[in-house]
Amino acid sequence: MNKPLRIAVAGLGTVGGGVASVLLTRGKELEERAGRTLDLVGVSARDKSKNRAANVSKIAWENDACALAKSDADVIVELIGGEEGIAYDLVKSALLAKKHVVTANKALLAYHGAELAALAEENNVALKFEAAAAGGIPIVKALRESLIAYGIDSVRGILNGTCNYILTQMEATGQSFADVLKDAQKLGYAEADPTLDVGGGDTAHKLAVLSALAFGVTPNLKSMKIEGIEHITPDDIRFAREFGYRIKLLGLARKRGDHIDQRVQPAMVKLATPLADVEGPFNAVVANAGEAGPFFFEGRGAGEAPTAGAVIADLVDIARGSFGAPFGRPAKRLTRNDTQPGPRSCAFYLRFEVLDVPGVLAEIAGRLSESEVSIESMIQRGRAPGEPVAIVMITHESVETSVASALKAIAASAKVVAKPCMIPMESR
Ligand SMILES: NC(=O)c1ccc[n+]([C@@H]2O[C@H](COP(=O)([O-])OP(=O)(O)OC[C@H]3O[C@@H](n4cnc5c(N)ncnc54)[C@H](OP(=O)(O)O)[C@@H]3O)[C@@H](O)[C@H]2O)c1
Repeated sequence: MNKPLRIAVAGLGTVGGGVASVLLTRGKELEERAGRTLDLVGVSARDKSKNRAANVSKIAWENDACALAKSDADVIVELIGGEEGIAYDLVKSALLAKKHVVTANKALLAYHGAELAALAEENNVALKFEAAAAGGIPIVKALRESLIAYGIDSVRGILNGTCNYILTQMEATGQSFADVLKDAQKLGYAEADPTLDVGGGDTAHKLAVLSALAFGVTPNLKSMKIEGIEHITPDDIRFAREFGYRIKLLGLARKRGDHIDQRVQPAMVKLATPLADVEGPFNAVVANAGEAGPFFFEGRGAGEAPTAGAVIADLVDIARGSFGAPFGRPAKRLTRNDTQPGPRSCAFYLRFEVLDVPGVLAEIAGRLSESEVSIESMIQRGRAPGEPVAIVMITHESVETSVASALKAIAASAKVVAKPCMIPMESR
């Protein structure tokens, strides 16, 4: 009989509470799968008196999570969160103490992934993080193991359930971003401080992890262009539909010569394609894997059950002795990817809010033409007398920097009342 795997869980919130609950209630099933028992031997959180999803009253409690790294546990599960402080200190000291680590902390990996992976390899222990990108979707294992025979050309995904929920609700109700966000906060789909989600930062953390796995680059947020969804209006959502598209916040990483172009931005996705149909808080990832063609993954990106399930899958792998380099290649071989993405060439959706006065359309068309941006289609929508008019255009394939410089000139016109909006059209 193999000896039990001794597990300590730091953080007993949404994910940690779920993990403790599965370990305490589904032991027999897990033992069959893992070939040994998975024993919960220690826990830590801030407040011992809080009610938890799991009854941990008989499990050794540590007020200081870092003390778990000195305990006799074989694996430390870090489910506290945050890129610095206690989470970083705990993971680092656990790896140095030759303990396996499982984490769901994408922020930690985006900032310190390469350093922690090197530490895990030097100490011959696992650093596993299936739950850190797209929650319950097994995309980490797919990129690290299942798809390695193919060169990955690009990874694109809807990686933040809060943003996808807000965009879906804006389309369903016609409400503004601010109103839908307020409702989402009441329903628990958005944090009290939603900046990291709606500003694209959380998607960037996950994209950094996926890029490292797919392309062997060091996770690096500085090489990403990051834009959120705060400026998307109900008009944009309605016009997108009229043109046959839906707006999604995408994380995109693709090969461009010897560089990996990484960006987070709202994009127009064609209706009736798999990504366009991903609704509400769901996540999805498309991995384009050379001749093997695209692979599409969809599922729940957050919540207790899917995220705890991903952590448990990592623990079972460790129990079976199945782990390798955290990013699928030796950490020393990860390459730096310091360059910001170059300008994209694609069609763009443009929206202008203008005064209803003669000559305004000619002025916009003139500025675009000066920058060699040509228009494929256009909609002009009148509003109540005296209110600004929305002019919306789809360009032919154009260079991003040319469109941006035309928009800068147009924004300076006295006839234009708001900053023009520019959203790339995804071709597939
Ligand atoms: N929630 C999701 O669906 C989801 C999905 C994917 C990834 N993740 C990641 O999973 C991690 C945990 O997220 P979560 O949603 O479970 O967070 P959460 O519900 O806020 O739980 C955080 C836990 O950490 C504990 N904690 C905070 N500071 C601590 C400290 N100094 N020492 C010990 N424990 C401390 C808290 O203790 P108290 O309970 O006593 O306050 C709480 O139990 C994060 O990295 C997050 O990004 C979450």
